[in-house]
Amino acid sequence: MSSSVDAALPAPAPAATEALRPAVHYTARDTWLNDPNGLVYWGGQYHLFYQNNPHGNVWGNMSWGHATSRDLLHWTEHPVAIACDDAEDIFSGSVVVDHGNTSGFGTPEEPALVAVYTSAFKAGSGHAGTQAQSLAYSTDSGMTWTKYAANPVLTRNSAHFRDPKVFRYEGASGAYWVMAAVEAQEQKVLFYKSHDLKAWEFLSDFGAGGPHLGRPGMVKWECPDLFPLPVDGDPAAVKWVLIVNVNPGGVAGGSGGQYFMGEFDGVRFRSDSPVEEPSWLDWGRDCYASVSFSNAPDNRRIIIGWMNNWDYANALPTHPWRSAMTLARELRLTTAGGSARLVQRPILPAAGERPTADAAQVRTGPFALDGSGVDLPDAVRGQAQVMEAEILPGPAGQVAFHLLGTEDGSGGTVLSYDAATRQLVLDRRNSGNTGFHPQFPSVEAAPLELEDGVLRLLIVVDHCSVEVFAQGGLVVLTDLVFPGPESFRNRLAATGGPATVRALTITSHS
Ligand code: FRU
Repeated sequence: MSSSVDAALPAPAPAATEALRPAVHYTARDTWLNDPNGLVYWGGQYHLFYQNNPHGNVWGNMSWGHATSRDLLHWTEHPVAIACDDAEDIFSGSVVVDHGNTSGFGTPEEPALVAVYTSAFKAGSGHAGTQAQSLAYSTDSGMTWTKYAANPVLTRNSAHFRDPKVFRYEGASGAYWVMAAVEAQEQKVLFYKSHDLKAWEFLSDFGAGGPHLGRPGMVKWECPDLFPLPVDGDPAAVKWVLIVNVNPGGVAGGSGGQYFMGEFDGVRFRSDSPVEEPSWLDWGRDCYASVSFSNAPDNRRIIIGWMNNWDYANALPTHPWRSAMTLARELRLTTAGGSARLVQRPILPAAGERPTADAAQVRTGPFALDGSGVDLPDAVRGQAQVMEAEILPGPAGQVAFHLLGTEDGSGGTVLSYDAATRQLVLDRRNSGNTGFHPQFPSVEAAPLELEDGVLRLLIVVDHCSVEVFAQGGLVVLTDLVFPGPESFRNRLAATGGPATVRALTITSHS
């Protein structure tokens, strides 16, 4: 179980409903969640606020739920942080630590945490039908929150202006707060600046809006984030990354996360690539609304996404909890093929601190792999499996992990690399319960180049999800799966010619 719960909350759900609950991914105990909100590191804890329905397990009554963790794997759920009321739903946003007490909500010695969230105003609120940006603050390390009396602090009288991500800019143009928010239907990110988090001044916008409307099928831009990252760890070589989540229009269909790399001068973001040619954070179906922590230790840039897709989110076959977050992932920029590339690594304990799963069954390599394949350790209830492999596929061959399959080998999720098409493919059509929604059965493909003939994979299998980080995190694929109780078999095989497994480690984590 990944989550403990404050004593103040009601009793836990019956064990029978828990078989699909992940071990190291966050789920709310018995309610609905969507986007991560207000990710902030403070007081030795990672705080995860999130879109939550405190009264049900489908979307609605949007409020900010709250959980904390010291290791980003084991979470404690707390009471709702910011609740909806008669006037507003509390939509997505961010939290900053107001170190300089610019808002006056705290003191310089004891800074306030300030949440900047979207008020989705209801009928009778005086702003009915609009979405505008509002503040709430906490002076007890995020446990209780007070809404600012003069909300909203920024309105455009628009119905789709939302998802503010605020960060502290310090650079050639000065020192101030910057907000990135979206005009969702116009497919635009808008940037604003403020000295006190209360008065905001428009800076610029970036987007696909206007006549061409970005990629075909792309409708809304949501949940943006903008941050600098050093290339190869060199503080003198910084690039800015602008994450823009899109729904629908994601690379695998429905919800997805795109990003642009470029420059930000404190006023304007300039992308190195045309807005019609984004890069993708994740090639799977189930990674949306990814945003990063503020105030993370050592300037690390750590993101969490919502492991779901609006195509079928409300229908996931779990009860009473519904929906999980992705693992926390650390972002870095590394030079590959002559240009800066974004890589993601899941935050896990060091391999030496994870028990090796059923050591007798893991062959460490090198060994030859053929069509009959090798059995891998079974999945065990309550544990996530972490599989790390270096494989040399044959020139025309295919290597495939068959994950969470049945004993007779008939079902499972298949992750394969095809040397001929140079694609990494995740196929969940036989992954178990796929019939709960017509858009759930799917096959995802990501282009992937071998490095000196080698395929490097890190796969995390955790009850209802498969997350794949290939080539050191250059290519990431995340899919939900809902295997039956008898689906715990894992196998690795080659087809179309032999392959060589250079190294294989399988560890488990609970
Ligand atoms: C993204 C989103 C946001 C909005 C929130 C409402 O999934 O639609 O744009 O703030 O969810 O729950």
